[in-house]
Amino acid sequence: MSQTAPASASSAPTTRERLFTGIQPSGASHLGNYLGAQQNYVALQDRYESIYGIVDYHALTTVHDGETLRSLTHEMVLDMLAVGLDPDRCAIVRQSDLPEHAELCWIFDTVVPVSWVERNPTYKAALAEGKENSAGLLNYPVLQAADIVIYKATVVPVGKDQDAHLELSREIVRAFNRRYGEIFPEPRAAYTDAPIVMGTDGTRKMGKSAGNTIPIFAEPDEIRRLVMSMVTDPQRIKRTDPGRPEVCNVCQLHRFFGGDYLQIQDGERTARTGCVETKQLLAERIIEFFRPMREQRLRLAADARVVEETLGAGRDKVRPILDATMAEVRAAVGIGPRREV
Ligand code: AMP
Ligand code: TRP
Repeated sequence: MSQTAPASASSAPTTRERLFTGIQPSGASHLGNYLGAQQNYVALQDRYESIYGIVDYHALTTVHDGETLRSLTHEMVLDMLAVGLDPDRCAIVRQSDLPEHAELCWIFDTVVPVSWVERNPTYKAALAEGKENSAGLLNYPVLQAADIVIYKATVVPVGKDQDAHLELSREIVRAFNRRYGEIFPEPRAAYTDAPIVMGTDGTRKMGKSAGNTIPIFAEPDEIRRLVMSMVTDPQRIKRTDPGRPEVCNVCQLHRFFGGDYLQIQDGERTARTGCVETKQLLAERIIEFFRPMREQRLRLAADARVVEETLGAGRDKVRPILDATMAEVRAAVGIGPRREV
């Protein structure tokens, strides 16, 4: 007897590749997050069967106060909805609602040589800066690999700063599959056309724990203040000095906020314009660009239930996928009861 597939799209068997990505609730979404990753989250949500994780286990490596972390997680869900993710078309999940992420991380830990995680650039940078370097920070990319492959996701929209982490995820998959059989597919990154966005200090990448961000949903005056504080070309000291747009962070950011960025860069190069006016223009353009999303965020935040409803729906959607993978993994590695023969 032949059966036709149900007409409803939501219950139809999916043949789309699966997407997973994570964002840490360790601070407010910033320009680096948006240009490097979040705009792609939205652009890809229909092309793939998409799962977006608010990775609070990861954020424990830097946020050490319970109330703060819970509230940052809540705010990050609002950010994800406001940038344009639609919980009816994707799943937005809180990593800690699905503790099997940590279980799979542990299993991977027994496969991964220590030297692989010691190569992790985030860990090396923390060591070099004399920051606290917990075992969690060392293992951070192992948990990231588990996050992705627990859903057998193959597409991972991330910023270009995550290149080394994605490479390590693939190595972990290969090592696991060699030991236990072909269980996991290898994931690949999906990048936007933005480079790694530099912070307002002009020396390091913009990052939530670096204190050098421009939060996309900040009050307009705060965005103005932060853009005006940006470090530009250090060799351009006087207004009449020609600037070098290729090293000026403000000029680089103009690329994403208007079709006339080449003229703007030319103005700097020839000293026709000064840094102050170029910054003022950038600030106004950033504010205008995010205005509709910011207004939408305010509307969403007014409804106290929206965040937990979104996370509950996300969790219910992904649970069967993750249960199936973990059953396969536990059977392969030999944990849990002996199977009857
Ligand atoms: P995080 O804030 O570290 O959780 O990062 C969330 C996403 O934003 C990841 O895909 C990162 O690759 C991306 N991202 C974070 N900072 C930057 C940056 N400065 N430039 C480009 N992408 C970034
Ligand atoms: N490491 C990522 C970052 O700092 C966050 C992250 C955790 C992630 N798990 C992930 C990204 C899984 C992609 C896939 O930006």
